[in-house]
Amino acid sequence: MNEISELRKKYLNLIDSAETDSELEDVRISALGKKGEITSKMRELGSMSMEQRQVKGPIFNSLKDEINDLIKDQKDNIEESCLKLRMESEWLDLSRSPRLSDEGSLHPVSQVTEEVIAIFASMGFTVADGPQIESDYYNFDALNIPPEHPARQEFDTFYVAGDERSGSPLNVLRTHTSPVQIRHMERVKGPCKIIAPGRVFRSDYDQTHTPMFHQVEGLAIDKDISMANLKWVLEEFCRAFFEVETVELRFRSSHFPFTEPSAEVDIRCSWIDNQLKIGEGESWMEILGSGMVHPKVLEAVGLGLDKYQGFAFGVGIDRIAMLKYGIPDLRSFFDSDLRWLKHFGFSDNDFPAMHSGLSKF
Ligand code: PHE
Repeated sequence: MNEISELRKKYLNLIDSAETDSELEDVRISALGKKGEITSKMRELGSMSMEQRQVKGPIFNSLKDEINDLIKDQKDNIEESCLKLRMESEWLDLSRSPRLSDEGSLHPVSQVTEEVIAIFASMGFTVADGPQIESDYYNFDALNIPPEHPARQEFDTFYVAGDERSGSPLNVLRTHTSPVQIRHMERVKGPCKIIAPGRVFRSDYDQTHTPMFHQVEGLAIDKDISMANLKWVLEEFCRAFFEVETVELRFRSSHFPFTEPSAEVDIRCSWIDNQLKIGEGESWMEILGSGMVHPKVLEAVGLGLDKYQGFAFGVGIDRIAMLKYGIPDLRSFFDSDLRWLKHFGFSDNDFPAMHSGLSKF
């Protein structure tokens, strides 16, 4: 009997001090495994007399059951303390302020392009696109600028060498977004209202010129579109874009080979202490070129002259970005200076949704 209570004490202790599942399993095997101490005790029952067996059998059995129960309880304890330990080591302080991450910002050109699209979208214009490497034909000829035309010299064009062997013609980096007009009219051959924002290239570099810059082209074609429509669209655009109640535009008679009549448009503004204000003051800032689509252009795209007419305009995106956000030097747009980008960049929350337009409409 002594022997049994010794065994019981031994295993009670061992079970109690087991701290992991595998330690507990070792204890179980040494007590109740095939060669375990309690198992071999049970085996001894076989060689005992009937009387002995009747006395010892229940004792051994209850020891076996007790050890099994204790192992199960200890297993639960271990599980619980493991969980507690994990919760202590893996806790998160949700009240702490988040670590500041390096956030990028939207370039003013992206921001302004989206703003322009949103405003024109709310006036029913859709967005069209065209290639940046353009043929001579689309960049010049179809726009009524034949090879000997002096306007060709006015554009400081970048030429892209053609491949002599394959006989591919000389291409240009498009000097304006106007070729998109041609491509679009050729496609739809009828009424349309589009804008075409994108990159353009001219060999020029100073405070207000960079070899690559951005324009947005506008084109509206229908049976009775007039200069009055052009004026209204541009005024509405400027009011919404510059977020001012009154804008004053000055239409200055001008010349573009692809429009007739043509007008350059200035906006009233003031420059005081290097601060630019739109809508008031004594200065005028040129922001775009425009006019009624030239009959020769309509002819080049195969639009019935007697049927259709329309207006076109080209706005400098970078220029109106400078005006709206007070950015003094165009060259800084393309320096990739992180301090500049942080200062003049936008968060994506400021991004106007194309479908909703701006609040003014
Ligand atoms: N393409 C002209 C430019 O780049 C602008 C313009 C577009 C003028 C459409 C008239 C009509 O200067």
